[in-house]
Amino acid sequence: MAKAVLGIIGGSGIYDLPGLEDVREERIASPWGEPSDALRFGRIGKTEVVFLPRHGRGHRYSPSDINYRANIDVLKRAGVTDLISVSACGSFKVEYYPGFFVLVDQFVDRTFRRETSFFGRGCVAHVPMAHPVGPVLQQRIADAAVAENIPFTLGGTYVCIEGPQFSTYAESITYQSHGYDVIGMTAMPEAKLAREAEITYATVAMVTDYDCWHPEHDEVDVASVVAVAQQNARKVAGLIARIARDFPAEREPCPRGSDRALDGAIMTAPSA
Ligand code: ADE
Repeated sequence: MAKAVLGIIGGSGIYDLPGLEDVREERIASPWGEPSDALRFGRIGKTEVVFLPRHGRGHRYSPSDINYRANIDVLKRAGVTDLISVSACGSFKVEYYPGFFVLVDQFVDRTFRRETSFFGRGCVAHVPMAHPVGPVLQQRIADAAVAENIPFTLGGTYVCIEGPQFSTYAESITYQSHGYDVIGMTAMPEAKLAREAEITYATVAMVTDYDCWHPEHDEVDVASVVAVAQQNARKVAGLIARIARDFPAEREPCPRGSDRALDGAIMTAPSA
């Protein structure tokens, strides 16, 4: 069995991981280009943890400009087996208020100008994506959220838009009428690439706003997203620390097959 290494991708407002011990930074080169930042390696309890701020320190990369392939590639090279991505998001449900966490298990990809695969010309592969989130990893997050007294719900659908603009009112009520729970700009193609890299993936979607559909709330703006995300940073650090402390030493098999997603996925003949 492979040693478990926990990767954390921090979103808006999460540029560091307090609680990480024996920290060292390393820039890992990737054939896919520049990742968002150097990786921060450390330890929480006995668990090896690798942290990457998705937008880079100082928030230098917009959602469309993040090199998602390089980010996932360097995390894979660092040995990450299980990846928790933390993302700010807007909510389509009254009961998912700013500060609430949604442990989503589905994504709808509405992005259109991002590289979405490691495969293509020369080597063609089609990985299963019906269930993009690892349920065992997700349950670990849920257990930790209960222990940390963080209000959350288990399950939900995250629609990922291209941005950088927030949605129009018509888009917002359309997504809501489709039954989507939250909206963000970054979980895709991250989840797809993690699956191709055979990394088990789960997202903590932290609600920062009600997008623009709610008649009693102002439409979303950067100031409100950043303010709530910063307030949540301490909660996120506590959540991750607890997950890491209780993490198994060896990689657990994923019931959704994320640890063996490439078995049977490659179409190109080996000799081609
Ligand atoms: N990130 C945080 N809030 C958002 C929203 N309302 N739409 C898209 N991305 C977001």
